[in-house]
Amino acid sequence: MPIRAWFPTFLYCEPLLKSGLRRLNDELAAECHQVRDYDEAGRAWSAKNYPGGYTSYGSMAQMQHFSSSFADLEKKIVRHVKAFARALDMDLRGKALQMTDCWINIMPEQAAHSLHLHPLSVISGTYYVRTPNGCPGLKFEDPRLGSLMAAPPKVANVRDENRTYVTYPAEAGNVILFESWLRHEVPANRVAEERISISFNYALA
Ligand code: NI
Repeated sequence: MPIRAWFPTFLYCEPLLKSGLRRLNDELAAECHQVRDYDEAGRAWSAKNYPGGYTSYGSMAQMQHFSSSFADLEKKIVRHVKAFARALDMDLRGKALQMTDCWINIMPEQAAHSLHLHPLSVISGTYYVRTPNGCPGLKFEDPRLGSLMAAPPKVANVRDENRTYVTYPAEAGNVILFESWLRHEVPANRVAEERISISFNYALA
């Protein structure tokens, strides 16, 4: 072939563990609800910034330091982050990728999270705790979208590598990782059950 792909964008998606995820998720879901019930400041922050849902992002954004179960979760996630960084050929210059933020997201019906990226971080991601059937996935956009200018749209049967958007389904027990500059969103939850996830950032320390 005379054509080769360059500058690809990589996404990582794997089950957190080989087994035991159901029990872990039951425990994490219960703790997420406890934190929401306790976190008055976070509920107020969410009412302004996360309509219809609850996030601890504005109040308790370092859950790995507040809770031993989140500290344990971090130990399970970091293995995936290291594997992803290796696959990206990142030269960490003797430093380590460390979790700097970790927060809870509870999205009932109608809650959404509009397009954003994660500044000041290297690798970000989400771990899925509760994902009712039909709940929204994680939608990523081509990072070159702002440069496309007069580029024509893609044909209906576009090949995967030429897409301008991709949506990863949210599946309880999976961890999704991406480079923190990659814009993403969670479309509105259209099912009558809560979707629960735990998001995090890793930076060099
Ligand atoms: Ni995000």
